[in-house]
Amino acid sequence: MPASQITADIIVDLQYGDCGKGKIAHALCHKNQDYTHTMRYNGGANAGHTIYHKGGKFVTHQIPIGVFYGIPSIIGPGCVVYPESFLEEIKELNDHGIKTDGMIFVADNAHIVTKAHLEEDGNDTKIGTTKKGIGQAYRDKVARQGIRAKDITGLEEYLIDVYETLHTKGPATILCDGAQGFGLDIDWGDYPFVTSSHATSAGALTNGIPPQAVRDVWGVGKIYETYVGAKAFEPDEEVFRRIRELGQEYGATTGRPRQVNWLNIDLLERAIRINGVTQLVINKVDILREAGVWMTRNDAGEITDHTSEQVMVAFIEDIAKQAGVKKVYFSDNPETF
Ligand code: IMP
Ligand code: MG
Repeated sequence: MPASQITADIIVDLQYGDCGKGKIAHALCHKNQDYTHTMRYNGGANAGHTIYHKGGKFVTHQIPIGVFYGIPSIIGPGCVVYPESFLEEIKELNDHGIKTDGMIFVADNAHIVTKAHLEEDGNDTKIGTTKKGIGQAYRDKVARQGIRAKDITGLEEYLIDVYETLHTKGPATILCDGAQGFGLDIDWGDYPFVTSSHATSAGALTNGIPPQAVRDVWGVGKIYETYVGAKAFEPDEEVFRRIRELGQEYGATTGRPRQVNWLNIDLLERAIRINGVTQLVINKVDILREAGVWMTRNDAGEITDHTSEQVMVAFIEDIAKQAGVKKVYFSDNPETF
């Protein structure tokens, strides 16, 4: 058999999720009609992608973005799947005119979230989880007592062997679509206030993507930060409440208000370097423009007032370029970048 011919672009969130990965995935699918597959590489129904497509607003949780473009979409082995809500989500897309027949696949070695996992997570108060049973499913996977997609009945028509699909059927160009973000990563996030999966670009590789296949790593951040969960994150100042309203910072999955703070430049730089970001998108610049404040912070909690958009944008761009980013996009509009 000839060498595998795989090309991969990876999308990774550089903060705490909710930075607009769905928008970037949507835009890349639109530009690069050469994708043969999209693949979600981590997480489960804890995620919420908000996608604006053909005038409609869609929120997906487990289904990868490619279905909006008729691109076969895989839930990779690094993910966990709750079958009931997965099937429900497919039905909802179909009801809204999005065709999914023969388009959605589940890695047969992805792990299953069970009702017992959901119930146990329902009692969480310590982390502020999305209560989707994510931590419990990954715990059982790592403890070698989990249940895989191929071990249950009900998902047969969706199951694939990811090795066969990506490595043995000729050239594949894959958009690897991440969930959550670097600040929530099990290893690099603010433990224990993290999720239970690998939310880094390395997490994509655990799904059967060989390192030399990677073409671009699209890092996605926001010009301010938001976090949802149990730890204290938002300083008690009016400006953050204003940004929350202007940016409509409420969870796509749970509806919880997101806590707001200034962009942590040290976190952004670390995330760029560790994820190997080549293309950086900073979203929601228009929201800070409406708020009229241009501040960043650092790990030490020191605040810098950049006084103008121009100065702050140049500051971020400079740090990103030094860290290896080829191009930085500052973005306003929810549909384009
Ligand atoms: P879990 O992933 O449900 O276990 O939640 C762990 C932490 O990650 C909590 O602080 C959640 O609010 C956060 N979290 C999980 N998924 C997302 C997401 O897609 N966006 C933002 N925060 C998330
Ligand atoms: Mg989200």
